[in-house]
Amino acid sequence: MTREFADIRQAGRAAVAYIIKIAKAAVMEKGFFTLVLSGGSTPKTMYAMLSEPANAEQVAWQQTHVFWGDERWVPPTHPDSNYRLAEKELLSKIPLPSENIHQITTGYASPEIAAEIYEKNLRDFFGSTSQVEMNAPTADLSLPRFDLVLLGMGQDGHTASLFPGTDILKEKEKWVAAVPEARGVPQVPRITLTLPVLNQAQNILFLISGKRKKEVLKTILAHPGDAERLYPAAHIRPDGNLIWLIARQP
Ligand code: 6PG
Repeated sequence: MTREFADIRQAGRAAVAYIIKIAKAAVMEKGFFTLVLSGGSTPKTMYAMLSEPANAEQVAWQQTHVFWGDERWVPPTHPDSNYRLAEKELLSKIPLPSENIHQITTGYASPEIAAEIYEKNLRDFFGSTSQVEMNAPTADLSLPRFDLVLLGMGQDGHTASLFPGTDILKEKEKWVAAVPEARGVPQVPRITLTLPVLNQAQNILFLISGKRKKEVLKTILAHPGDAERLYPAAHIRPDGNLIWLIARQP
């Protein structure tokens, strides 16, 4: 499903409504909600809107667990840190227990080590969750099923830190991988969830803005096969729901 809005505030408002709706359903069904946050600059307005009391009070933060789809290889206090963006605009303003914040920690000796540790953290978390969720008929028991994954997209069609022409797009086993080559903006190494994990999600919601990204999306929707060769975002095809929210301007 794709929905277009005049600007990022209107798109952000729609995104917040989806987050609240999915959170309520997840907590109702299994007692907890797993939310994967996206990075970059686009989500800033949406996170701030979600933190507003009228919205925040509709989410059962005590039963919510927050993860990241990717992280840049910078300290958590760095302006380019995806953790810092979420912490500043959202996490610092809501009653989310600190033990429910599953940060991609970047303080280790290498992005590869950080990726291994994050994957272990995910396996520990999903290994301990209720079997009800893991035994869902379509669930692949070797993969975690997040309730909602938020994603952005670069103008080159990358998503999370899955960049065009990189081998990570072929990764089938790992849940989390390092992106050692400095790619994207900022040009730093990264850690990212892999396609098998992203595509296992119950719901995926893209929030993008601007003409160029809208053109990329049009190609993805009109020519998915061709687009896969060009744009990693074209590989996002979850069993669950896929929602694109497009703001005509930032
Ligand atoms: C990252 C993001 C990345 C982002 C896109 C769009 O860490 O860079 O996760 O996938 O969503 O690059 O970024 P903007 O929203 O800043 O355009």
